[in-house]
Amino acid sequence: MYASLKSIGSYIPEKIMTNRDFEKIVETSDEWIVQRTGISERRIAAADQSTSDMGAKAAQKAIQRSGLDKSEIDLVICATLSPDHLCMPSTACLISDKVGIRDVMAFDISAACSGFVYMLMMAKSFIESGAKKNILLVGAEKISSLVDYTDRGTCILFGDGAGAAIISATEDIDEAIIDVHASADGKYSDLLITPGCGSTHPCSTEMMDKKLQYIKMAGNEVFKVAVRTLTKDVVDILKTNNIEPKDVDLFVPHQANLRIIEAVRNKLNFPKEKTVFTVGKYGNTSAASIPMAINDAYEEGRLKKGDLMLLDTFGGGFTWASALLRFGGN
Ligand code: ACO
Repeated sequence: MYASLKSIGSYIPEKIMTNRDFEKIVETSDEWIVQRTGISERRIAAADQSTSDMGAKAAQKAIQRSGLDKSEIDLVICATLSPDHLCMPSTACLISDKVGIRDVMAFDISAACSGFVYMLMMAKSFIESGAKKNILLVGAEKISSLVDYTDRGTCILFGDGAGAAIISATEDIDEAIIDVHASADGKYSDLLITPGCGSTHPCSTEMMDKKLQYIKMAGNEVFKVAVRTLTKDVVDILKTNNIEPKDVDLFVPHQANLRIIEAVRNKLNFPKEKTVFTVGKYGNTSAASIPMAINDAYEEGRLKKGDLMLLDTFGGGFTWASALLRFGGN
């Protein structure tokens, strides 16, 4: 038995925040942001819209496209760094409730931007072991709730949104998840961190005065490790599986920074037409980035049943992961 990505869906919030909007609140320019990141605009969730609201909308789309009835889904996992509630209930439980999935295991994972590919690894294992048959994966983020809009080094990078996928059991190897590599190294944890609100710095006015509840990033150092790790990761997974870059139909990298994507793409000589770029219009949506990008490629007609996809991602932790899979949807 193999695991197959059978359908994809996404939810994109309505409100657009452009680089020009940032020029009004921090010392920056459209030119600097585009040149350093490739980002022109990003979406921001409404004040009363939660991560689970967006996740549920993406999930409904993926379920509808899978042709499954929601009662056939036997596991729900959500990857997010901006959960509705810090401790409990999990965002996966809230999404299950909003979608109407009852009495099945549901939980969140914490792997920052690598969350979606980490979940693919888990879904593959659950299905190949025979434990589950149809799994709903959701990557959803309201990162605007964690961003310090006075810190020009981070606020311009992130956006909100959600992506979801159904992973189902199949006997057809031509639509299978072939391989997933996932890894982490906590020695880099301080370079990309939300220091406050956890057990190290519990909620307090002192903690909030120091703005520890927001994302802090040593951008330049993260950038260097990201390029090095992502390139190595892609080379490794292709080599392990005896696959040449030219055999890949669609390269779907994590959408954090256009310069990072271009560095990896050039190293492997992937043509632009075979690469998905959404960072310019959504910014970095962390765990939602990869499923949102796959969804856009699907809706643009760039993804057909059996196409070989290569996913590659990197995030806080540090965590990183890559996957080779054939699309199982129609
Ligand atoms: N506008 C204008 N100037 C700025 C801005 C801005 N928005 N932000 C920073 N600068 C300034 C800095 O203050 C610095 O000025 P100085 O030289 O006077 O000190 C100068 O620009 C250069 O700063 P760097 O940080 O060296 O700029 P860099 O070229 O590295 O670009 C960026 C910064 C875009 C953040 C880049 O480092 C990056 O993309 N890093 C990786 C992000 C990433 O991939 N994160 C991982 C995933 S995220 C996750 O897991 C949640």
